[in-house]
Amino acid sequence: INNHFSLQSDCPSSEPVSLKLPFIIGVAGGTASGKTTVCNMIISQLHDQRVVLVNQDSFYNSLSDEQLENVQDYNFDHPDAFNTELMLSCLETLKLGKAVSTPNYNFISHKSIEPARMVNPSDVIILEGILLFHDPRVRVLMNMKIFVDTDSDVRLARRIQRDTVERGRNIQNVLDQYSKFVKPSFEEFILPTMKYADVIIPRGADNEVAIDLIVQHIRTKLGQHDLCKIYANVFVIYSTFQI
Ligand code: CTP
Repeated sequence: INNHFSLQSDCPSSEPVSLKLPFIIGVAGGTASGKTTVCNMIISQLHDQRVVLVNQDSFYNSLSDEQLENVQDYNFDHPDAFNTELMLSCLETLKLGKAVSTPNYNFISHKSIEPARMVNPSDVIILEGILLFHDPRVRVLMNMKIFVDTDSDVRLARRIQRDTVERGRNIQNVLDQYSKFVKPSFEEFILPTMKYADVIIPRGADNEVAIDLIVQHIRTKLGQHDLCKIYANVFVIYSTFQI
């Protein structure tokens, strides 16, 4: 419990202060596995809490003009495709309870576009992305790690549907990219990170039982956070009285 909060020596002791750090949940899994739907289900069940969603996709590096000319040769499923340093610094800021501006990535232009997205500090931060468990510095920030494990045929079918409808691609592009980069990178970089998960959800968002259990666990943990806050505030009041 003590890992999750710290007393600030310079805080005014007459006011109750929020001493809890946010509860950070990571949701990883292959492309089109249903990560976003799982996150939205968790968020809707935690309607009485302040929850914010941060997507690893926001931290894709923008492509240069040269890379754009040969976009079919670019591997978006490799860890180097992301600006992990920037994601880490945004997460550190959020963890300290401060708002942060995150890039707004566009899947059609393959670049970050204006306006940037402002993310407010929250009690629960949900991170979502294919390679979220790849970097140990990101993993260590998370209080709970979930891997969404969905059958690869189901994922490919969803990906074709999504990329042609929402991301301006044609079926041939999607299939070429899938066999050249998406599938090999899933096997090399994403699947091996499943071992870091605390919970693996088979069938993704169809698995309501798993999602209910996860939400129950988060509520228990948030209750422990609140208990810490009460103890800490009692400590501050007691210290003030002593002075
Ligand atoms: N990608 C792409 N073009 C870009 C950037 C990323 O095609 N300019 C693809 C990558 O190939 C990667 C995928 O986007 O496989 C990552 O997004 P994905 O996890 O599929 O999106 P979500 O909507 O978060 O997936 P889910 O259905 O699991 O919610």
